[in-house]
Amino acid sequence: MTNVMTYPAVRRLNFGFDAQASTDKYFADGNIVFSHLVAILSAIFPPGEDIFVRSVRRYVDVIDDPDLRKRVTGFIGQEKTHGLQHRELNEQLTAMGYPTAWFEYLLGITERMEKFLDKQYPDPNRLPRIRRFFLGFTVAAEHFTAVWAENILKRPAVQAMMYDDEIRNLLNWHALEELEHKSVAFDVYRAVGVPESTRIRWMRFAQNCGIPILVLFSWLSIATTDVEGRRQPFRILKETVQMLRNPMWKGFYSDMRPFKKRDFHPDQIGTAELVARWQQELFGTQGQLADHLR
Ligand SMILES: [Fe+2]
Ligand SMILES: [Fe+2]
Repeated sequence: MTNVMTYPAVRRLNFGFDAQASTDKYFADGNIVFSHLVAILSAIFPPGEDIFVRSVRRYVDVIDDPDLRKRVTGFIGQEKTHGLQHRELNEQLTAMGYPTAWFEYLLGITERMEKFLDKQYPDPNRLPRIRRFFLGFTVAAEHFTAVWAENILKRPAVQAMMYDDEIRNLLNWHALEELEHKSVAFDVYRAVGVPESTRIRWMRFAQNCGIPILVLFSWLSIATTDVEGRRQPFRILKETVQMLRNPMWKGFYSDMRPFKKRDFHPDQIGTAELVARWQQELFGTQGQLADHLR
């Protein structure tokens, strides 16, 4: 099954994020752990997506297929816009007391090193191991995000958990575009001819360590910044269990499995109908976000 949109569309939007806005601090289901986790995700998206963009853009000149080049342009545009919007939300989250700037700073460390390498050795075939390492990471992370996006969009229970309308709108828009461009980095990876073992190793790491790392980061975030959370260790433990049982993670491990097959392709997972439905739901004439489009 192929995606409805061949070229990922770049949509410029206006969300109503405001560093002065007063919104419920525990905007995710009233759950402290879940709210910190969503804040961390929002914090790491912009530098993470910058890594994805650099990893793919590096190979643009060696891609012969004009169709794939156009899709890469759409992919870069979408990821760049996600970063911009999440940075706006992150300012609001910082004002609400979340340590978003710290997480963004920590993940941004690779940027200097990558920019130095790209300047010093512009030929992507130089130092291929490092470059392919980043592309493999991107491809595995894109699958991780696509599985997540599908869960967010197809489960009404997850939709009902987001108390803040604009945060829910941002997550839905981001999830939709993740599905629209889910196979672009993968097709670049194949076009470049990186061995399948690199992406499979990355997926093994993401599958085994992704959720535990996010839980640890959430606890760290609470321990360092959240007085109310620190005072209630039993609530934190209980909410961690609740958060792990969240429908957002349903089938997560089994959905990672096919990626580890050597003949896997993201379009083997049929999300075209879900994408078409949400394109209408969000950006159709009566769409929930039609008035957000610039
Ligand atoms: Fe994104
Ligand atoms: Fe993406």
